[in-house]
Parts: sequence; C-alpha cells; structure tokens
Amino acid sequence: MEAEVVIIGAGAAGMMCAIEAARRGRSVVVLDHAKAPGEKIRISGGGRCNFTNLDIQPDRFLSQNPRFALSALKRFTQWDFIAMIDAAGIPWHEKTLGQLFCDRSAKDVIAMLLGHMQDSGARLKLDTTVTAITRQNARFRLESSGGVIHCDSLVIASGGKSIPKMGATGFGYRIAEQFDLPLIETRPALVPLTFAEQDLEQTRPLSGTSVQASVACNGARFAEGLLFTHRGLSGPSVLQISSYWKEGDLLEVDLAAGADVSADLKAMRAEAGRMSIKNALARIVPEKLAAVVVAETGLTGNLADQNNAALERLASRVHAWQIKPVGSEGYRTAEVTLGGVDTDALDARTMEAKDVPGLYFIGEVVDVTGWLGGYNFQWAWSSGWAAGQVV
Ligand code: FDA
Repeated sequence: MEAEVVIIGAGAAGMMCAIEAARRGRSVVVLDHAKAPGEKIRISGGGRCNFTNLDIQPDRFLSQNPRFALSALKRFTQWDFIAMIDAAGIPWHEKTLGQLFCDRSAKDVIAMLLGHMQDSGARLKLDTTVTAITRQNARFRLESSGGVIHCDSLVIASGGKSIPKMGATGFGYRIAEQFDLPLIETRPALVPLTFAEQDLEQTRPLSGTSVQASVACNGARFAEGLLFTHRGLSGPSVLQISSYWKEGDLLEVDLAAGADVSADLKAMRAEAGRMSIKNALARIVPEKLAAVVVAETGLTGNLADQNNAALERLASRVHAWQIKPVGSEGYRTAEVTLGGVDTDALDARTMEAKDVPGLYFIGEVVDVTGWLGGYNFQWAWSSGWAAGQVV
C-alpha cells in the first residue's frame, strides 16, 4: 500500500493530525492495533472527556524544555478546539478550575473526530500491528499485520505507557530509539501514591475519607480534594503532585486547607470548654481523621483541659502533615506518562525529528505532560494540529 502520510495511533493526537493533513489534500492512513479508535478519549473524564481547559498556561505543562509546547499551544488553542466542539453541536460545561467536559458522553468527541476524518478522506485501519519500520530512499517502509505500507511522512502518535490493559505499549519510545532520538526517562504521572506498611497502619482506618487539602512537593502546590485509599493517597491534589514527586521526597499536606484549626479550636474552647477535644476537631475535619489525629498527638480530655500550645500542636498536625510515600500505583492506573521523546530532538513548530526528515512525534509520546484538567488533551490536539499542517 502507498500513502503520503502514515500515522501510527488513532488517539487524540493522531486523529487530529489525520484530519488536518487530509484537509490539505494529503493521502493519509491511520493505523492502530486497537479494535476501536480513541479508547482513552472514551474513558477519559469519567466518560465525559475533560477535553480542554479555559486556562491554558505554559506553567501547566512539565517538560525538560517547558517552552517547547508553546508554539503549538498558541497556534491551535483551547478556543480553536471549543469552536470545533461547538460547530459539531456537542453540549459541554465547565466543571471547576476551567475544566471543560461533555454534557453527554466522551463518545461525542470520538464521533466528531471520526466524522472529520471521513469527510477529509483520511483512512483508518484498526486491528493493525506494525512490526518493523525501515527508512528507504528518504521514504519509510512499514511492515504490518495488514501488509507492507510505504509513506513519505511517518507520524508517531502512539501515546505513552499508561494503562497497558488498553493497549499502551511504549512502542513510540522504541521507534525513537531506533532512529537515535534521545529519550527523557519515563515515569507514571497523575497517579495515586502509595505508603509503606507502617504508615498504612496509621492511615488505613481513613480509607475512603476525603478532605479539601493543599499538597506541596518540590516547589509545586495544589489545593484540591484529597482521598485516603487503602494503599495511600489519591484525589486531584495528589494526582497533580504525583507529577512533581520522586522517590524519597516528602509531601507537605494541609489536611484542612482554608481553615484555621488553632483559631477555631481556641474559639470553641472559649464557648464550649466541656466539648471533647476529638469532637471539637471533628467539627473542622471528618470525624475519622479527627480521631486519628487526636490519638496520634496523645491529647485527651476536654477543650478546657488544653493549653494554647497543645491546640497549636494539634493544628500543626492537621495543617502541616508530612508523609513520605514509597511509590505510586504505576502505569496500571496513571493517567499519563512523564518524560518521553526529548523535545530537543524535535522542531517545536512542526514536531518533526530534526535529524530524521519526515518522522514526526505528537501527543503523549513527547516529553510534554500537562496537569490534570484537560491539559493533556489540549497538548494532543495542538501538537496533532501542528504536525497536520506540514506532513
Ligand atoms: P492515546 O493514548 O490517546 O492514543 C494512542 C493510540 O495509539 C491508541 O489508540 C493506541 O491503541 C495506539 N497504539 C499504541 N501503540 C500502538 C502500536 N504499537 N501500534 C498501533 N497503534 C498503537 N486527559 C485530559 O486532558 N482530560 C481527561 O479527562 C483525561 N482523562 C484521562 C483518563 C484516563 C483513565 C487516562 C488513562 C488518561 C486520561 N487523560 C486525560 C490523558 C489523555 O487520555 C492522554 O493524554 C491522551 O489520550 C494522549 O493522546 P495521544 O493521542 O497522544 O495518545
């Protein structure tokens, strides 16, 4: 088979690239080993796809070169994607922190992309595994379960390593290595963190409890929900900080963000000194958490029995809890993969490998990782769009 452009991966980035390239009149084939396109879009955002964020800012993307993503993000913006969604008549809403979700289903986004692919003439070949890629006379030769394909431009849009159960393989990194492109070490991100057994003994009774927290590590801080799990911590604030956390790092956690536990307890002591210290704290944080914290600090009795120093000690245990996770739940549950194809090896405007003309990397396989909240899809749309203008 012959095509001008072959794109490996019918995910968010690959489909966007296919649409743009085919609209320019290029003959485009998209290959995917999965049985359906856009599987991650389908499960994203709890089935409603958090497809972008109103507040796209450079500091919301992690990369060895944080400026790399800017060109694509500025040329195909969140407003451009919203315009596509609106033109397709897909109803959406803002949930929180600028995060935009489909009202109905993530399947609306997949149907929109497939519709544009069909209208533009891009071909989709599912259930097709690429087994070898070679370069021949400035073209590419692909061996696949569907036969041999030759193309001028090859776009790797095969995503990262997260959720292997859904077909994530690390394929794109192997292709980068084959063509001598440098890689930034990969690790799971936007992922729940896990504790050692001795810490779990303390937190396990809290499993299922959630609080409004503020979690800090390595200069980053996120004030969002936090959930105690039977293995450690999850919830948006923890998923966010997991992208900044490395083995050995401590997390600084404020378990009552927005409250002033010391002032509140002192005020309660003045009004209701006979209230037990545990019941008093349970008015500020969930009861189970209050019980664990009070037990840990060894305080007993009523509020009236506590001096200021004791109340401040309790408050500091709530506002400045320090915990050292031992690991993460890994790629099994991580939303994204940090690291990937080193952006130094790519042209920021086109996503083309600087030393391999005709070879492009887009989406999650590149060392650009967004925060939780629609940033990763926006990177997929923007980088796919950018490559689609030139392939
Ligand atoms: P993506 O992974 O989407 O697509 C890669 C495609 O390549 C897949 O179709 C795969 O089958 C195919 N492929 C892989 N290896 C191949 C091979 N060897 N041969 C052929 N095909 C191959 N982000 C966000 O912004 N908002 C959100 O709401 C969410 N929610 C969310 C939930 C969950 C559970 C996860 C796991 C992830 C998210 N994300 C998210 C992240 C988001 O899904 C992710 O960043 C994008 O899907 C990345 O798009 P890509 O097109 O780069 O890869």
